[in-house]
Amino acid sequence: MVWDNDYSVGVKEIDEQHKQLFKLIERFKTAISDENLDIWEEMRRILIFLVKYASYHFEAEEALMQRIHYPQLDAHKVMHATLIGRLREVLERLKAQKSYKPIEFYYLLMNWLTDHILAEDSKIGNHYSAMGGERTPALRTASDLFALLEPPLRKLEMMQKNGVLSGQQKEEKQNSLITKLFQKIDVTLPQKLLLALQTIDLLLEEGLILAINAETLRKALMERTNLHQMMQAQVPSQSKHDLLHQLLHCGLVDQSDCDEAVAVIEAEH
Ligand SMILES: [Fe+2]
Ligand SMILES: [Fe+2]
Repeated sequence: MVWDNDYSVGVKEIDEQHKQLFKLIERFKTAISDENLDIWEEMRRILIFLVKYASYHFEAEEALMQRIHYPQLDAHKVMHATLIGRLREVLERLKAQKSYKPIEFYYLLMNWLTDHILAEDSKIGNHYSAMGGERTPALRTASDLFALLEPPLRKLEMMQKNGVLSGQQKEEKQNSLITKLFQKIDVTLPQKLLLALQTIDLLLEEGLILAINAETLRKALMERTNLHQMMQAQVPSQSKHDLLHQLLHCGLVDQSDCDEAVAVIEAEH
């Protein structure tokens, strides 16, 4: 699991540090499959560093909260202290190793990080922008993507109306614009593929693309994915169900594909 725009709290400094935390936990995972390493020793080493880096990050985050007069600063500080406590617990468990599989430590750490970012740090970002701070854009919803695409697509439409572009040229340019943006999205994740498909729906509804081009764009997205693998991704099962619903709605899967996928989800959870 890598850092993803979904985890952006919209404050550059904090996002960069969160990315580092993700990287550290990923290194922990890589260590698990490296046969040349003493796995337990390597995991212990990374975890000790993670405790240090997390402490540094929490201090930076608390300083930011202070600067922007974040109202829940004290409660958030308590959570940080608890989070460090939990890392120390994991470290203790690592020493006792045998009752756990290495990969379980990885999931433990990933949840440790993502739960806090999504539930708590995201609120700091909201307060930051409410206080006038400039947020880095996060492409979280189909409307975010649509908002990025609409101006250049409208411009192409104007160019066609003015005779600068032929209908076909306009469509080609539109498709390549949309494709380029979709290229930046990791559509192997259910929630991201859903996002892209919903964006296509919005573009269609607004009359910005033709049905036939929507079809081509959808197919191109599906070529970059594998439904079976996607159903096994470590994401909430709700995202997978939402995606299936959308795929069915677009005619990209039929009912029997859907039933099969649901069986995979249920086996995973
Ligand atoms: Fe935090
Ligand atoms: Fe944080």
